[in-house]
Amino acid sequence: MTKITIAIDGFSSTGKSTVAKRLAKALGYVYVDSGAMYRAVTLFAMQNGFIETDCFDSDGLISQLENIEISFKFNETLGFAEVYLNGENVESNIRTLEVSQFVSLVSTVSEVREQLVKQQQGFGKDKGVVMDGRDIGTVVFPDAELKVFMTASAEKRAQRRYEELIERGDDVCYDDVLQNVQTRDRIDSTRDDSPLVMAEDAMKVDNSNMSLEEQFQVVLELSEEKIKLNQKKSDTRPL
Ligand code: DC
Repeated sequence: MTKITIAIDGFSSTGKSTVAKRLAKALGYVYVDSGAMYRAVTLFAMQNGFIETDCFDSDGLISQLENIEISFKFNETLGFAEVYLNGENVESNIRTLEVSQFVSLVSTVSEVREQLVKQQQGFGKDKGVVMDGRDIGTVVFPDAELKVFMTASAEKRAQRRYEELIERGDDVCYDDVLQNVQTRDRIDSTRDDSPLVMAEDAMKVDNSNMSLEEQFQVVLELSEEKIKLNQKKSDTRPL
């Protein structure tokens, strides 16, 4: 069976990663959370003094980009690959509201994007990859066989994110989470470099009123159709 590339883009907290992870598992594909890479760079910037309460030293961060190594290691127990920053597992540390508050700003830096996009394209060079993010179908893999654009109302997304953070023991309030979701939507969709836009050939999935199971089934069906189509194409291609 030939393998395809699946790009899942959308606003923050649309449940992209939950669906993408499950999809990769069902298809036997590699899952890459590109947002985790931007979050890891943000954590690095915070740990190294390039981000203070009201100030972001982007030049300082750019000067240190060659010292940032991001990798993924599969965790058998969790069933997905966790993100490592310079050899340290930061899967949990990158999910705090504090990192969320700065990650969109860090993601506007073209030098950061250039480095991460290159690495992301490397992860997908053999196909058989499900990658989620903001610019996967438009910039990272413009030729992806399947592009999905997930969306839901800001209130629904904030509620889901709030419940996730409370469940893991973070002390947050719903209004702060909603504000963060709305601010990130604005920065992600209006930045100059690779803004969040739906690719012309993407399939839009509004999951405001869908269960996780329903979302998964919709995306799985779309994937299976594209995989079949791709197989047919490769069967009929002259040798
Ligand atoms: O998917 P996420 O919420 O973990 O992503 C965190 C931030 O990273 C998001 O607000 C914007 C940025 N991002 C990006 O600019 N491009 C991507 N491909 C993925 C994420």
